Amino acid sequence: MSDILRETLRVELGARAYDIVIGPGLLAEAGRHVAPLLRRPRVAVLTDETVAGLHLESLRAGLAAEGIEMVSLALPAGEATKSWPHFTRAVEWLLEQKVERSDVVVALGGGVIGDLAGFAAAVLRRGVRFVQIPTSLLAQVDSSVGGKTGINAPQGKNLVGAFHQPSLVLADTGVLASLSPRDFIAGYGEVVKYGLLGDAAFFDWLEQNGPALAAGDMAARVAAVTRSCQMKAEIVARDETEQGDRALLNLGHTFGHALESATGYSDRLLHGEGVAIGCALAFELSARLGLCAQEAPSRLRQHLRAMGMKVDLSDIPGELPGAEALMALMAQDKKVVDGKLRFILARGIGEAFVTFDVPGEAVRKLLDDALA
Ligand code: GLY
Repeated sequence: MSDILRETLRVELGARAYDIVIGPGLLAEAGRHVAPLLRRPRVAVLTDETVAGLHLESLRAGLAAEGIEMVSLALPAGEATKSWPHFTRAVEWLLEQKVERSDVVVALGGGVIGDLAGFAAAVLRRGVRFVQIPTSLLAQVDSSVGGKTGINAPQGKNLVGAFHQPSLVLADTGVLASLSPRDFIAGYGEVVKYGLLGDAAFFDWLEQNGPALAAGDMAARVAAVTRSCQMKAEIVARDETEQGDRALLNLGHTFGHALESATGYSDRLLHGEGVAIGCALAFELSARLGLCAQEAPSRLRQHLRAMGMKVDLSDIPGELPGAEALMALMAQDKKVVDGKLRFILARGIGEAFVTFDVPGEAVRKLLDDALA
């Protein structure tokens, strides 16, 4: 089965081009894929304690099958790990392990580990190569591809980091079975985002196949991860450092990040849940501004509901601050340029565009109504 369900994509970035391999059973085959990158048969793996308990031994066996030795460090699971203290620990551990300039660091985990390990690799000895082995749906379709690495600062999320492309991404769709339904479906928010931003036919396909995909259909999972990575790879190849089009990948994130911040990056709202609610708000705003028909936000909301996802602000447990406070949180975002907030809006499903031209009053009214 794993031979049939195997896809390989290329991120075309000249000298920094790399493959994304997608399918079930890749941990067991990791050695075969990683070996061509190695000067000596040894890798240093950064992971988290939860993922280590579930998948580290499979990776060890997969590497050992090709005679590759592995040392590993498991950091605590959770967003709080994306911070200076854990970053320092990771970098010092890599130095203690005598990781050389020509060695390869492996990131085994979700977005937190991928971002932290990638940033550690970016600065260690002025840059060593790294391999992403994403274990969450969110990391497989978004954060492991494209080379954004970094940590959070006390001043805000992802404010410290570097663009550092991986040398390989291995997205083992078999490991998605170990995610909780909530984590899986939160990651699905990022999958829907790709349909919404640039591929209406993919959104149609998700409406048809989303329920089977959530229920565990492996062919559907591979297809969804592949189409998402294909779109991301194309956008990153066009605009690696986000001077233009790459911002499309932030559809739903302007609202989503403000909501995550308002809920303290806690269990009340997972990143992908914030993105899904943010996409619904971005489409609603687009309809109110006369950019797209009301049918588009209605259809989106219907699909999110059908998938059992959070759609409305009232789906977030606990109190939320008012519209003014949410707008202040948006204004602190990285997406502000010359004091103007960047929004991703849409002319329809699959037709998103970047704009700095959104009247503040329209955003305030949208949030007021959404909070009512
Ligand atoms: N997650 C957004 C990006 O990679 O640009």
